[in-house]
Amino acid sequence: MSTLFFKQFLKRPFQIASIVPSSKALVERVARKMDFSQPRVIAEYGPGEGVHSREIARRMCPDSNLLLFELDRAFARDLERQFAGDRRVHVIHGDAASLPHELKRHGIDSCDYILSGIPFSILKIEKKRALLQKTYDALATGGSFIIYQVTNELKQHATHFEHAESEYFLQNIPPMFITVFQKAPPLDHHERGPLPEADFSVGAHRSA
Ligand SMILES: C[S@@+](CC[C@H](N)C(=O)[O-])C[C@H]1O[C@@H](n2cnc3c(N)ncnc32)[C@H](O)[C@@H]1O
Repeated sequence: MSTLFFKQFLKRPFQIASIVPSSKALVERVARKMDFSQPRVIAEYGPGEGVHSREIARRMCPDSNLLLFELDRAFARDLERQFAGDRRVHVIHGDAASLPHELKRHGIDSCDYILSGIPFSILKIEKKRALLQKTYDALATGGSFIIYQVTNELKQHATHFEHAESEYFLQNIPPMFITVFQKAPPLDHHERGPLPEADFSVGAHRSA
């Protein structure tokens, strides 16, 4: 077990919301929801001690960018240490809600994927709605917002997204819902049927 994780949980149980990091099986399952065959812009909300971040960094290609938003100072410092030699990774010690500002600061227009491990269910409704709107706006068309949560209550609030698919994943303590919300490309009138299940053909862009 990660000592740092448990220590930070004892200090801020509601913010950290779990006594252990995600399992290896969950990390792999989540990573498989992303297509790493080309450079990607990925934001992660609440990386904690970095289990998902390390796997994403391991899989993503050289011109990719990974922005990590972590509220907890000790975790943020530890992430900075872990990724000190990796220019693709940017650690932001701050709220996930600062995503639009940070994208602008890094000259990035949109994200291909946004991954979240923050405890959405304890956020006040206004904060939850505002963060969902920012998340939707920050995604490229075709991009995905991926969450892993103990409850699937966010689904009823994330109405901005055109497509959502959930699975209940048992190989984690506690078991988690993994949900992929997709920002769909506009439909060309009656030409197209429902979205294909795993169409991850996304394209984020960097400002000139
Ligand atoms: C359940 S832990 C998940 C940690 C890690 N992603 C994992 O899977 O093991 C939630 C993390 O989200 C962070 N967090 C909570 N609210 C946040 C927010 N609004 N913005 C950024 N990070 C936040 C907490 O500090 C904590 O590190």
